[in-house]
Amino acid sequence: MTQQKTALVTGGNSGIGFATAALLKKHGYLVTISGRSEAALLEAAAQLGVDHAVAEMANPEHLERLAAGFPHGLDLLVNNAGIAQFMPMEAHTAAIIDHCFQVNVRGPMLLTQALLGSLEQRSGSVVNVSSIIVENGKPHASLYAATKGAVDAMVRSLALELAPRGIRVNAVSPGAIETPMVDKLGIPDELKPALIQEQSNAIPMKRFGQPREVAEVILALAKSSYVTGAIWKVDGGVNAC
Ligand SMILES: NC(=O)c1ccc[n+]([C@@H]2O[C@H](COP(=O)([O-])OP(=O)(O)OC[C@H]3O[C@@H](n4cnc5c(N)ncnc54)[C@H](OP(=O)(O)O)[C@@H]3O)[C@@H](O)[C@H]2O)c1
Repeated sequence: MTQQKTALVTGGNSGIGFATAALLKKHGYLVTISGRSEAALLEAAAQLGVDHAVAEMANPEHLERLAAGFPHGLDLLVNNAGIAQFMPMEAHTAAIIDHCFQVNVRGPMLLTQALLGSLEQRSGSVVNVSSIIVENGKPHASLYAATKGAVDAMVRSLALELAPRGIRVNAVSPGAIETPMVDKLGIPDELKPALIQEQSNAIPMKRFGQPREVAEVILALAKSSYVTGAIWKVDGGVNAC
């Protein structure tokens, strides 16, 4: 009898994580979503018909506890949870910088570390969610871009380190995707339509991507048994500009 595949999607209650959990479930995975708000997780898990676990990415103890939930192995870890903090250089404080790195870089590293045994049991893989901002700079995005640049760098070295253990490590690098993240940037409602229009005009495909379109690439990476250390762009053609 073939074992049912297992997947953990961090930040699975919203946006790209939610769409990824839905797609993985459709493809037969036993999915667990994690996030920081129990209420949001409960609602999403009920909608999706998946398991859930509360875990704050900035809290190492939460990540240890989350990883302990996979004693029988894990086929896929999607390090998706992340925050985007856009601000002028003068607004950065040590606490803001530390928190952004804790959530976007340290959290995924510690969670991956805690799950190495579970991933090794199943010859599993890790897909990290990066951003094209690493290569396509934007004013006020230096902190966010620095964290995603760190993710890309981690992917390449970790893929080499873990290849002998049968664990693949990759990333998707989305461009502008229509998710609640846009609402979390603090942009006044009245300015949003013009900003979205302006950004869409700069994208060759002239539109934002949908979370499902990123989820499809995450699933493809999970299934691509000869791909490791790769960073696949999902950006409507921006990378070709
Ligand atoms: N949307 C884009 O255009 C875009 C482009 C490139 C890359 N990305 C990346 O895609 C990933 C998913 O973002 P999204 O656009 O889907 O945004 P989203 O809808 O805001 O989802 C982000 C998820 O991460 C969770 N999260 C945030 N901080 C957390 C923390 N400290 N601990 C645990 N969970 C936390 C959020 O929980 P709450 O619901 O509690 O906030 C939410 O579930 C992120 O890594 C982001 O950087 C997004």
